[in-house]
Amino acid sequence: MMSLLPPRLDPFNFPQQEAWRDRHLLRRAQRRLIRSGQTILGPGVAAFEAAFATWLDRDLSPEHVVGVASGTDALELALRACGVEAGDRVALPAHTAYATLAAVLRLQARPVFVDLAPTGAVLCPDHLQTLLSQAVEPIRAVIAVHLYGEVCDLTTLVALCDRYGTSLIEDCAQACGSRHGTKSVGLQGRFACFSFYPTKNLAALGDGGAVLVNRRDDVTTLRRLRFYGWNGEREAVQMGVNSRLDELQAWLLRDKLPQLNRRLAQRRQVAQWYRQALEGLPALQLPHDGEHGRHSYHLYVVRLPAAIRDKALGACRGAGLPVGLHYPLACHQHTHVIQRFGRSWSLPRTEALLPTILSLPLHPYLPRREVRRLAAVLGPLLAQGH
Ligand SMILES: Cc1ncc(COP(=O)(O)O)c(C=O)c1O
Repeated sequence: MMSLLPPRLDPFNFPQQEAWRDRHLLRRAQRRLIRSGQTILGPGVAAFEAAFATWLDRDLSPEHVVGVASGTDALELALRACGVEAGDRVALPAHTAYATLAAVLRLQARPVFVDLAPTGAVLCPDHLQTLLSQAVEPIRAVIAVHLYGEVCDLTTLVALCDRYGTSLIEDCAQACGSRHGTKSVGLQGRFACFSFYPTKNLAALGDGGAVLVNRRDDVTTLRRLRFYGWNGEREAVQMGVNSRLDELQAWLLRDKLPQLNRRLAQRRQVAQWYRQALEGLPALQLPHDGEHGRHSYHLYVVRLPAAIRDKALGACRGAGLPVGLHYPLACHQHTHVIQRFGRSWSLPRTEALLPTILSLPLHPYLPRREVRRLAAVLGPLLAQGH
């Protein structure tokens, strides 16, 4: 029998911290699963879909949220529902988690990479417009990634997609809790895709994802797509896959929802501590709420001069502070992508950003002393480097 004494918890390991804090929810999820006796697409998935729909928007009907096996699957199914097939063009930022591109490639579609906006870490609507207007072959879908929790210029993107007759998919994997105006992100695109990977703002203890379907006439399609393309009589009426949110994870996620707003507020608190500790250091840019919406601080990615970024990375790691890079390579720079699609992309802002980024540890339970420790390492480095 597993000991219930607290294990030695790593202050930086968010999945471990949260698993320990939520261990009673996991036990409750197990009891619910055994009681219901339904282990696949049972009452847990239905309960989570309904609760998450309400959390996203009080007016949303439960059937508009479809639980799937991962965020990557959510993107793949949304693309399929938009009619994307082998050889079709899909626009996406080059600067994103590789998973965004993996979903496109799984369908054998062709990526069209969009550069970054002049500030921030999300795609540039002007560059997208150029690509849409110059496309020889139609761009079937556009994936807007709210990277790190920073919100894209959704108003302009919706207008552009309408004008060029293409579908907008919001990749909200890193943006659960980000807001566009007064509303959650995810409500503007035709589909929005969420991940519940264990590091995400709403985290499972394994894989999980969901598609938010914003058009009523897409709901049945998406629900069929996750389950072999079957209709109610188990007849395959379209091409589908097996991508179901796990019942145990669904119960757990459902029971974590009531705490989500508090945990998002704790993320904002840590971001504020960083701001207090780091603001004013020379040549350091900090993330913040943008003109297009409210950041959810899934990742806290600062920018600093390229000349000292690697030194800062090494110094922080040397002091036991697990900083990271999100991401060391943009999608178009991966070997496999170069082999398949060549090197002819012009993405100057993306390429200029990469050597300047540094992800500082952030999760709801990060002690303030670690924020201070980080500032003590970064401060002198930035002062010298300037
Ligand atoms: C921006 C982005 N999109 C998609 C995904 C894919 O999610 P998952 O890992 O659940 O497949 C991730 C997760 O890492 C992500 O960060």
